[in-house]
Amino acid sequence: MNVHDSERLASQLDVMGYEKTEQMEDADIVIFNTCCVRENAENKMYGHLGILKSLKKHKPNIKVAVCGCMTQREEVLAKIKQSYNWIDIIFGTFNLHKFSDYLHTNLETGKTVIDIWKEHDEKALAEEQGIVAAAGREIRHKAGINIMYGCDNFCAYCVVPFVRGRERSRKAEDIISEAKALAADGVVEILLLGQNVNSYNHEGITFAALLEMISDIDEISRIRFITSHPKDMNNELIETMARLPKVCKSLHLPIQSGSSAVLSKMNRKYTQTDYLALIDRLRIKMPGLPITTDIIVGFPGETEEDFEQTLDVVRKVRFSGAFTFLYSKRTGTAAATMENQVPDDIASERFKRLIDTVSPIIYEDNKRLEGFASNVIADEYDSEKNIYTGRTDCNRTVHFKIADGSPVSNLGKMFSVMITEGKPFYLMGEKV
Ligand code: 5AD
Ligand code: SF4
Repeated sequence: MNVHDSERLASQLDVMGYEKTEQMEDADIVIFNTCCVRENAENKMYGHLGILKSLKKHKPNIKVAVCGCMTQREEVLAKIKQSYNWIDIIFGTFNLHKFSDYLHTNLETGKTVIDIWKEHDEKALAEEQGIVAAAGREIRHKAGINIMYGCDNFCAYCVVPFVRGRERSRKAEDIISEAKALAADGVVEILLLGQNVNSYNHEGITFAALLEMISDIDEISRIRFITSHPKDMNNELIETMARLPKVCKSLHLPIQSGSSAVLSKMNRKYTQTDYLALIDRLRIKMPGLPITTDIIVGFPGETEEDFEQTLDVVRKVRFSGAFTFLYSKRTGTAAATMENQVPDDIASERFKRLIDTVSPIIYEDNKRLEGFASNVIADEYDSEKNIYTGRTDCNRTVHFKIADGSPVSNLGKMFSVMITEGKPFYLMGEKV
């Protein structure tokens, strides 16, 4: 979501004639697009702002903007206003599309621009999104589309419903016209985005129906989506996903914990048994479906037995990737005031054991792919190594050689790639 938001900001700068630089010292504008899901990121932002403060002393004309969901947390905003009053522009997630207006205002008046909630104008956002999304993409043939915003699930640890607001789905026809505009601009792979993407529903058009509609766009050859909630992974969606060839056969399905007791305290609305039964239903329709997940370690009250249940599920499902997080206490969430917060040393030790359980499974599964061919779209090219990087249909990263053609003709095309070696976290291959 943040990468996509950053692309939208980049495209506004692009329209204004700005260019990207790799060196912060060379920049005329630096934007921090923040995330407040975990505390660590907050600390990192303050660290970066410290560096920028010294840079701004030598180069007073440099403009600094801070945006994203951190600014929507009152205590963060108060701290920025008080201790970082040299920042030029501060805005939230609802008004990203107005960034260029803010920049113009600041350049003209020299005054700090702060706009967090007030301009909560989603119609304008929906209309402008399609236009601005077109220019700022890192990879020309891939693009994300926000199909819904916010979240109503209120998982006990999570700050998202508080900062991104209530769940609302965009009109299907707006999404389709955006997808068509992107296709006309050379996009072949679409990533549908939403905090709870598979609960999409606009006036009766379900997420499954939306997948069908996007699948009908000829130029689009791949469709992915993140992030799905297990509770919304219904049979209609599973059947549609299995049937439509353009929908990638891989799924990101956060489990968060393998213990039903912890899941209940987390307000996740499913048990371990429900999750495992869902995995079975998915893999009956899509044999061998690779599933990636998110896992939180050290949620309040998590016992050794609870944690072992998580390890157990990891072994049973054989996740092909896992984002693992140490529980981070977020003020305002239900979990922040729960009893039995897990001490840091115990959480860190469990975290390490979790990684040690997940990693060999990923490596073993990567090894098993050796000698098989996969469809891979060439996303990037490294001219020094003469090697391409892309993703298989099942969303695994492959570095591969293409003997013929040039990067200009090869990038964005789909190739059949023979996997020559499975590495711990990626694959090596050659175009067949
Ligand atoms: N602490 C740790 N991890 C969290 N996540 C969300 N909130 C927290 C928190 N307070 C993780 C969840 C979610 C992912 C995006 O971030 O696993 O799926
Ligand atoms: Fe946060 Fe839960 Fe919503 Fe995901 S589903 S954004 S974890 S509240």
